[in-house]
Amino acid sequence: MRQKLVVGNWKMHGSRASVDALLGDLAGGTAGAAAEVAVCPTYVHLDQALKLCAGSTLSVGAQDCSHMASGAYTGEVSAEMLAELGCRWVILGHSERRQYHAESDDLVAAKLAAAISAGLQAIVCVGETREQRENGEAEAVVGAQLKGALADQASLEGLVVAYEPVWAIGTGLTATPEEAQDMHAYIRESLDGIAGVDPAQTRLLYGGSVKAGNAAELFAQPDIDGALVGGAALVAEDFRAIVEAAR
Ligand code: 13P
Repeated sequence: MRQKLVVGNWKMHGSRASVDALLGDLAGGTAGAAAEVAVCPTYVHLDQALKLCAGSTLSVGAQDCSHMASGAYTGEVSAEMLAELGCRWVILGHSERRQYHAESDDLVAAKLAAAISAGLQAIVCVGETREQRENGEAEAVVGAQLKGALADQASLEGLVVAYEPVWAIGTGLTATPEEAQDMHAYIRESLDGIAGVDPAQTRLLYGGSVKAGNAAELFAQPDIDGALVGGAALVAEDFRAIVEAAR
């Protein structure tokens, strides 16, 4: 039985005051939730978030990490540093990283190797663009992203995969529960061919305009094990409602 997981990806949002306010609400407000709940603030808010979440059921993750262990890599943050700080999770291969920072599957694979070696639990993101979907390439694209990131890793225990169709991110367009379920089933099937993954135990999150109003329908699908939430994760009431929908 896979416990539902709801992760807030705060992207490049927040201030010290807003992090205080949001986590002040969420740390108590999600106690007793049926789902496991995590938040991923910016690097500069991680320490503050970790302190505010201490003693609560909320865990904390980063939105990215370097593929290198240490050295002269200006601007980078290593997986080890995140683990030492107390982070549990790291999001890797988000489509915004692929789009704005030209991250390739090879780079995502190298980041995943660094995360695994540091003991972080990775949330690896995959998803097709609207054009790829319209051309009937959605499964081929997602399958290649999975293989590209996951092949030849030392250990994939605790891996989480997030399916985020690029056309649904921040657009208000959500994949229908059936579309999302079809791709999640395909992802689970594809994981079967990858060494070190137990497809039945691997949690698959849906991401892309998840809101309080559509979360329950998505979570009711057999292969959807939770959500990676962007915009709605910044509003305590909305995020709590999504967490509640996993009950
Ligand atoms: P939205 O929920 O704002 O569409 O963002 C989804 C996302 O990219 C989460 O990683």
